[in-house]
Amino acid sequence: MSATTLERTGRGAAFLEAVHARRNAGGALLATNFYNAETLLAVLRAAREAGDELILQTSPSTLAYLGVETAAALARAAAREAGVRAWLHLDHAADDALIERCLEAGWDSVMIDASEAPFDENVARTRAVAERAHASGAAVEAELGYVPKLGQREATEAGFTAPEEARRFVEATGVDLLAVAVGTAHGFYKREPKLDLPRLERIRAATDVPLVLHGASGVPPAQWRAAIARGVAKINFATEIKDAFTRGLRDALAGGEIDLRKTFPPAMDAVTELVAGKLRVCRGEGGSV
Ligand code: 13P
Repeated sequence: MSATTLERTGRGAAFLEAVHARRNAGGALLATNFYNAETLLAVLRAAREAGDELILQTSPSTLAYLGVETAAALARAAAREAGVRAWLHLDHAADDALIERCLEAGWDSVMIDASEAPFDENVARTRAVAERAHASGAAVEAELGYVPKLGQREATEAGFTAPEEARRFVEATGVDLLAVAVGTAHGFYKREPKLDLPRLERIRAATDVPLVLHGASGVPPAQWRAAIARGVAKINFATEIKDAFTRGLRDALAGGEIDLRKTFPPAMDAVTELVAGKLRVCRGEGGSV
């Protein structure tokens, strides 16, 4: 654990402690994106049934859809009611005003994504957000290298995280978690991704902050495990949740049912089952997923 992490106080400190504890136990925390009450309740049910904890993430587009206050209140109330220890994380934010609103609304952790900017600009923007977030007690994640966004080109080595830059980036920014580019991309893959595990090892050797794997949908469990063994302590998982939910809903609607209390539950069950498998992988348990 870095000195800055140890000195950190507030809600971000509890979040970071959980991430570090999970890494020390040989696992990772699963970070699931939610989009509505149903996906939120479904992922929480998976965690509750497993007696596990997890990170609840919202992207800026989800916050534009749900509203910042609504998303925070929903997530907190649902986690409390489910009896699940959960943290609220802002995923891929580039807008200072949104980051500020989330900090004010009590987010445990925020991601500043300036990964498309040149190194020095990424450092400057990340450092500014880290200072602001730490002052309000929240943790900060940033991305170095480039993990292609939804619908973009495939991951290429040119965008991969350079280990030596990772070391300089973490030192210069004071960031708490580092999202790395090692062969994943957001969204569906055209062909099975292959993580650059030797690079991940070199990044892990260069910096002690917990590493974050984005774009985990479609990455086989063996590669999740290999990434966890090399210092990945937070795994971001979204697209397969949307996919499972939408498929389940489509099936449930096919018969003409209009009662939402009947059409949503099968879709939620599909998400719960999916996330239960991923939680097992993150805890380092064997078995099928
Ligand atoms: P997937 O949608 O590919 O699972 O990626 C999720 C993610 O990285 C969110 O930040």
